[in-house]
Amino acid sequence: MTAVAHCTCDTNPACVLERYPAAGPDQLIPILQDVQESFGYLSRESIVAVAKHLHMPLSRVHGVATFYNQFRYDPPGKHHVQVCRGTACHVRGSAPLLEAVKQELEVEAGRTTADGEFSVEVVACVGACGLAPVIVVDGQVHAAVAATALKKLLKSYRVPAQASTQGKA
Ligand code: FES
Repeated sequence: MTAVAHCTCDTNPACVLERYPAAGPDQLIPILQDVQESFGYLSRESIVAVAKHLHMPLSRVHGVATFYNQFRYDPPGKHHVQVCRGTACHVRGSAPLLEAVKQELEVEAGRTTADGEFSVEVVACVGACGLAPVIVVDGQVHAAVAATALKKLLKSYRVPAQASTQGKA
């Protein structure tokens, strides 16, 4: 996995767009990927700026972005959950696993929970097919995750925050 090179200019995508001075609509996906890599997600402001830069209707840029589940529209959560939907994971039950993640966290893929604790992303093969179905949380691969074990797994990521809160009481 490549390291995220976060931009230092808040969420203003101008510094990304200036890397594509003569870009046309065929560069839409790479530019959206670059913006997301720089800021961690696609803000509404950045989608508007990309549309303006490429002289494309906002509705078309938004439509393309939302078609692909690689894009996120909220700032990343404290813990980032990636659910692999590659072929091996699909065969071994990643679809119900993804539903269980969404249900447990009460959030759709590509979004962040209201408390900012978890963001959820659907990814293609993460290169651990022999361990399918796989979930990656904060870069840590969890192998052969059963939907029934999910609650406990996610709770283990909440514990430090709860412990620190209790310590303050
Ligand atoms: S398909 Fe999930 S790790 Fe390869």
